[in-house]
Formats: sequence, C-alpha cells, structure tokens
Amino acid sequence: MELRNRLVLAAMGSNFASPDGHCTERLIAYYEARAKGGTGLLVLETSAACWPNGSTMPNTVAFSRDEFIPGLTELAERVHRHGARIVAQLNHGGKMAQEDTAAGRPIPVPSPVKPGGSDMFKVLTREEVGHFIKAAGPDGKGPRYYEMTGEDIAATVAEFASAAVRARLAGFDGVEIHAGHGYLLANFLSPYTNKRTDRYGGSGENRARFLLEVIRAIRAATSADFAILVRLDAKEYRIEGGIELADCLVTSRLCEQAGADAIDVSAYGNTAHAIAFTEAPLVHEPGGFVEFAKAVKQVVGIPVIGVGRIEPEVGERHLAAGDFDFLAMGRKLLADPDLPNKLMSGQAGAIRPCIYCYICVSQIFINQPMCCAVNPGTGREYEGDIIARSTQSRKILVIGGGPGGMEAARLLAGKGHRVSLWEKEKDLGGTARIAALAYEPNERLVHYLAAAVAALPIDIRTGKTATRDNIAAENADHIILATGAIRKAPPIPGREQRHVFDGDQLRGVLLGSDPEGIAKLNPVYRLMLFCARTSQLLRNIKLMRFMSKLWMPIAGEVVIIGGGLVGLELAEYLVERRRKVTILEPGPALGAELAIVRRARVLHLLKLNGATIYTKARITAIDRDKVSFHIDEKQLDVHCKQVIIAMGAQPDDNMMMQLQGVGAAVHRIGDCREVGYIDGAILDARQLVQKLELP
Ligand SMILES: Cc1cc2nc3c(=O)[nH]c(=O)nc-3n(C[C@H](O)[C@H](O)[C@H](O)COP(=O)(O)O)c2cc1C
Ligand code: SF4
Repeated sequence: MELRNRLVLAAMGSNFASPDGHCTERLIAYYEARAKGGTGLLVLETSAACWPNGSTMPNTVAFSRDEFIPGLTELAERVHRHGARIVAQLNHGGKMAQEDTAAGRPIPVPSPVKPGGSDMFKVLTREEVGHFIKAAGPDGKGPRYYEMTGEDIAATVAEFASAAVRARLAGFDGVEIHAGHGYLLANFLSPYTNKRTDRYGGSGENRARFLLEVIRAIRAATSADFAILVRLDAKEYRIEGGIELADCLVTSRLCEQAGADAIDVSAYGNTAHAIAFTEAPLVHEPGGFVEFAKAVKQVVGIPVIGVGRIEPEVGERHLAAGDFDFLAMGRKLLADPDLPNKLMSGQAGAIRPCIYCYICVSQIFINQPMCCAVNPGTGREYEGDIIARSTQSRKILVIGGGPGGMEAARLLAGKGHRVSLWEKEKDLGGTARIAALAYEPNERLVHYLAAAVAALPIDIRTGKTATRDNIAAENADHIILATGAIRKAPPIPGREQRHVFDGDQLRGVLLGSDPEGIAKLNPVYRLMLFCARTSQLLRNIKLMRFMSKLWMPIAGEVVIIGGGLVGLELAEYLVERRRKVTILEPGPALGAELAIVRRARVLHLLKLNGATIYTKARITAIDRDKVSFHIDEKQLDVHCKQVIIAMGAQPDDNMMMQLQGVGAAVHRIGDCREVGYIDGAILDARQLVQKLELP
C-alpha cells in the first residue's frame, strides 16, 4: 500500500453509524472530509468484526454480514476519490462490549473477571449516570462473562477473517486489527487479564497466539497486497501486572513474523480510575507515547505508526530521525480536517487547534454522536459547505470578540458579507483569554481565531465600547450580540469586603481592566499591576501565565465559592501557583459544564495538589479571615486570606434591551444567550450563520 504522505487519521469511534450497523451519510461525509483534507491513510473507527457481538457503541460500524458491504463500498469509494487510503479497524470489545451487556449477551473473556469498582461514577452528574444505566444489563445484574474455549477462539478468528474479506470486497486497502485498549485481543495479551494455562496463556508467545491466528487467517483469506496493521498497547497504565513495554516488543516481533504490515503503538489506562483515560489512550502529556513507538521501531522491520498528542513539528522531527514511520493524529483532525493540506501549503498558522477539552470522547462515554468543541462542522459535514458565498451581501455588526463573536465574523465574512467586529477590551478573545491563563490550549484557539478574522476583510475595532447610539449609527442589516455573561456574586453576607472578588472583578484584576476590582488591592499590589499594565505585560497571555507563577495579587490561602467550570479551572490555576485552595460548591455536582473526561482529570489533579472540596455547602458568611458554611446541619469554618466568588454568571441581556426598536435584526449568541462553554458559543455562531441564510 502506497500512501501520499505519512499522516494517518487515528481510529476514533464516532457513533455516526446506524443502530443496525450500516454506514450513514453522516459517517461517510465525515471520513470523506478527512480524505479531502489531505490525510494519507484513514483508519476507520472501532468496528465490530462479529457484530452485534463485541460492539462498544450503540451505533457501531459492522463487518459481520454481506448486507453491510454496499455501505462500506460507498465509504471506501468516497475516500479514494480524494486520493486517501482507508483501512477498517476490526475489533471485538470483549469485556468492554457494553452493547453485549445492554442486550444481555454473555461476553467472552480469556479468564474469569476479577470484580472491581470504578471511581468514574463519583465524577458524574446525576443526568450522566442515567446514560450508564445500560451497564447494569437487562436484568440489572451487570455483564455476564464466559471463558473462551479453543473452539470459541477458532470461531472468532474465522469471524475476523470473514470481516476482513468483506472489507476487501468493499474496496478497503486493508485492516487494522485492534489488539489494544482493554478489548478482547488485548485481554489475551495482558498478563493481568489472561490467567490461562493452555496454549493461549502464560508466556508472551502464548498470550499473543489468538492475535497471531487472526493475522494469519486474514492473510490467508485476503491477499499479499492487503495491508494488515495491528494496534498494540505499549503499556497498561494503573494496572499492576498488566502489559509493559517489554511485552509489547515481543508481541510486535511476533506480529511481524505472522505477516503484519505495520504496528500502531498506543497504550491503555485502567478505566476503573477516571484519570486513567487521559493517561492512555487519550494521552494528555504531549508526545506521551513517542518513546514507545521508538522502542518498537528498533525491534521490527515493518513500519511503525506513532500516535498520542504529537504536534506536527514534533512528528516531523521524529519522522526525520526515523523514530517511527507514520504519524497518526486523532483529535487534531477532528478540530481541523484540512490540517494536512494546510501543512503542505505552508499555512500551519491557519490550522484550527484542538484545545484538549475532551468533549469529543466524553460524548462517546454517554452514547452520543461525537462532536468537536472548536469545530462544529465535525459530524455535520453532510450539511454541506456553510461558507458557500451568499447571494446577497449584507452589512453585519458583531459585538463582542470572544470565540463566538470571532467565529460568527469569520464565517460571515467568508460568505461575502460586510462585517464589522467590535470588542471593548484592547485584545480579542473575551472569556477565552481568561480561560487561557488557566489552561494553555485555550490560548491557541484565541490566536487562531484572532488571526483568522484579521486575515479576512473584517473591520475590527478593539477598545470600542458599544452603545445604543453608536450601534444605531452603523445602519447594519444584522446586529449579532456576543457580549458574554455578567458575573455578579450572589448576596452572601460579607461579599463587599476588600479581600472578596466576584468573577468580573477577578477577571478585571488579572487583565488590569476593572477599576472596582483593582481598588480592592493594597497599594503595593496596585502599583505592581499599574507597571504590568503600562508595560503591556497584561496583554501577553503566555507571559502572564509564566509570570503569575512568580507573582500575582492573590493571597496564599484562598476559598473559591462555586465549583462549576470557572471555579474548578480557577482552582487548578491557583494550586499550580502554590495557593492553598478550598472549594465550596452549594450544589451536589462539581464542574458539570466540563466534559466528563476533563472534569475527572481536573478533580484528580486538584485533590493530588491538596485542594479541599466541599459540595452541598450552604455559605452563611464571609468574615475577614474565614468563610462559614453549613453542610446539612453541621456548621463549618474554613480559614483564608482571600475569597473568590466564582458563581452567579448570567446571560448579559442589557444590550439586547437597549436595542429594541433599533431597526435591524438583533441576534444573540454564546454566553449572552445562554451561559456555556466555548463549544456552545462556536456552535451558536455556526447555527446563526445557517439561519441567516434562510430566505
Ligand atoms: C473521540 C475519540 C474516539 C476514539 N476511538 C478510538 C477507537 O475507536 N479506536 C482506537 O483504537 N482508538 C480510539 N481513540 C484513540 C485515538 O485513536 C488516538 O489514539 C488518541 O486520540 C491519541 O491520539 P491524539 O492525541 O492524536 O488524539 C479515540 C479517540 C478519540 C478522541
Ligand atoms: S472536542 Fe476538544 S479535545 Fe476533542 S478534538 Fe475537539 S477541541 Fe480537541
């Protein structure tokens, strides 16, 4: 198989197939967009070789019957049309096959399964827990397992081979056998889950036997030019006695000998620990698996695929050094399907960045279709090109230069409308600039959007405060309000004191733009802030993030009232700057607005860094050196030098009211319509642009 470049779309379960296993237009258009964007090889998402058995999502692509071939053929054709190649990731979910559990089908395993709990449930909201109800099975007793016999194994091997034959008939260029991530073949490879004493257990060779039989059977049933890739785990994180790199090296060599054409080096983390998912396979640490791929490369002669949050320039270096042969990307290609073409045409700066918010994969956790926070077009490719040129050019005024406002301006200018964008601060970015202080990936999105609007014929005015009069004077056809939320602290006794900041005051202090907040600081802090502001330091997010590790006007012991998204991200920022933080959340759940996987990560890190968190805390008073609260009937105090009230965000409808009767169509997007996260604002922008196109 020859590829046009070394970029690979990593397999990503999308939930876009139909419930009966067929390819849908939504699924095909999603893959077609990645082919069109220049990726060399697409690995189709986890697909069920033995469907319905072994399915991991409600809408899993199936390869188990001939009736699926026409849909798969169309998928392969539409990908090939754009010069990309495609392989099908054939899988059996084993003990992770939640659809088997839901349907009451017994689940094959190598050895009896050790019972174990999961701390994942602790981070879920009540609504999310509802999505996991299937895990109980139809009788409420959970999954039923059976130990595979030699005959069961032989039958499954044959099913994998038949599935590969169907992939070939449908025009696929090969398959990737999924032998990682805790699924059936990995359960055999892992010394933790495989305790067999027959020829499928014990030594590395024996544990790999099932996988090797699958490889050989597929080779025998297809042809020499049909590519067989194998995805392996180089490590099972948080599983004592699980797969280690040495095991992976043995398996890689055996796969090569059995006829595999490439090894795709991933890893797995014990899903009983909510944090593990961001260790593997969705590694949070940049380039976290590179050393694994390098090690595999040294022991095999076939190509090796590296994956795991690898930036293009980092990947380029490793490819050039021969550390691995192909670079697979997952999330980056959800955020921007045109990444390869942009790289090739020297437009790396125009790549829409992933912000590592984990919304995409959290959707899969709750059985919803995959989506992307920064690219609402992901999964909506079938809706067509929404920035096709408009037949009527309108005058449009966008007020507010946060992500929603910038995205709306970008799309509308792309359609040929005459767009003005006003922002009251000196810099574009809105709330995302503040969020970028706490979480670096957000900064890349701010820069991307700011550069994108700057590159278009948009009249951008920063430092411009909108009023009814100056808006009316513009005579725009459409006014889009993207002015964000107002954050006013609820009426807690003591909130007016100098050491208490509400959300807007804190934001203003950090950016040096809120006189009310700055007035609360002591004279030395005020002077330092004045110097920072006049030297333009406060405009550079990266520098501020760095400098704030050395100094910032926040005391050493802080109570944050409110454990929502803002409270948690703020706490994360403060503990990283050695503040002793206590979070008091009045409700039962924490960080509900954060995607499950990111929430789990933040909560884990907060606890690890010594933050104390209380839920259901009814705040009664803020004093000079303490906050008093009740949990149930118990009264508690926590000592502190600073209090930040991170709650009370409300849509800012002030301007909407003022604009009544202004003579233009007025629209609201993002937080000024409904308080949410970046994904909500960006999606709002897209939907508004689509709505404006209607006759
Ligand atoms: C939404 C989502 C779904 C995924 N589903 C699969 C899958 O079906 N099969 C698989 O082997 N890995 C799956 N992964 C892991 C990716 O293939 C990839 O290894 C991982 O995201 C790390 O690469 P990245 O940092 O470039 O995203 C998934 C990842 C994401 C984000
Ligand atoms: S949803 Fe978030 S993590 Fe997933 S690809 Fe998009 S930006 Fe990245």
